[in-house]
Amino acid sequence: MKRAFVVGFPISHSRSPLIHNFWLKKYGIAAEYVSKAVEADRIKTFLAGFEAEGFCGGNVTLPYKEIAFEQCQQVTESGRKTKAVNTIWMEGGKRFGDNTDIEGFLANLDAEVPGWSQDCQRAAVIGAGGAARAVIAGLAKRRTPELTIVNRSRERMSQLADEIADWGFRTIQQRPLEVRHRHFDQANLLINTTSLGMVGKPPLEVSLDDLADDAVVNDIVYAPMETELLREAKRRRFRVAGGLGMLLHQAAPAFERWFGLRPEVTSELRDLVEQDLQRPRS
Ligand SMILES: NC(=O)c1ccc[n+]([C@@H]2O[C@H](COP(=O)([O-])OP(=O)(O)OC[C@H]3O[C@@H](n4cnc5c(N)ncnc54)[C@H](OP(=O)(O)O)[C@@H]3O)[C@@H](O)[C@H]2O)c1
Repeated sequence: MKRAFVVGFPISHSRSPLIHNFWLKKYGIAAEYVSKAVEADRIKTFLAGFEAEGFCGGNVTLPYKEIAFEQCQQVTESGRKTKAVNTIWMEGGKRFGDNTDIEGFLANLDAEVPGWSQDCQRAAVIGAGGAARAVIAGLAKRRTPELTIVNRSRERMSQLADEIADWGFRTIQQRPLEVRHRHFDQANLLINTTSLGMVGKPPLEVSLDDLADDAVVNDIVYAPMETELLREAKRRRFRVAGGLGMLLHQAAPAFERWFGLRPEVTSELRDLVEQDLQRPRS
């Protein structure tokens, strides 16, 4: 029986087992998907030898996506661009890695706001971490002309701006994140990729005053499903997309890698995960 994992630390919050086991049951595949809590001092050993534990591959989540990138012998273009791997598998005796967050981000926006990329002249991305990199790689794929990055740490922001300088953006603006400031340069798309607004984290306090009138606001935080940012954007009649769809859509290409079948993101799956998100986890 094939086995796959999600590894991170902590891991009890992860909804990946719920998603993948739903699909395994739905498609009648005799396999299992389990969560593995692995502490930092053991992660390299785990990633270097998961096949000896009977796994065909798995997902890697916080805080190990960059370590997983380093542990792979072959990495897809998405993994190389983001320098982070969230999906790992064995092929021809080699450890392969991919980053499916890019695909998840794009598929979610395509589903929630069809045609968004045709109208998008400028995108503003809040954050400069791993998720920001994946989102910016998605924006580059769709040839978004102009980009504004907004982040607390100026150093991390300018390092990211340097690294993406040849990704095809016509202009890249950098703006330090400051409470209730106008940072967005009339952007048509705003994406929060920080953990601000997530359950247990401080709120994201930004002014939406200088977004374009036709703007789309996407928060990749999915717990809670409706963040304060999305509530405020709705109140101002911007089109919105939450983070749950990204989580579901990033899982589909990973499932296909291990189990050979592209699963569907359905309303039944979304309802199942939504209900689970309403239950507190330790
Ligand atoms: N929906 C999905 O499928 C999906 C996929 C991937 C990630 N995510 C979510 O995206 C979020 C970020 O993940 P990541 O991998 O990019 O993490 P990361 O690499 O640690 O980056 C965290 C980002 O959040 C900012 N930040 C954190 N605390 C802050 C604070 N108190 N004030 C201001 N900025 C703060 C950091 O700013 P500094 O640079 O200043 O530290 C950085 O830009 C997580 O909540 C994760 O769950 C969702």
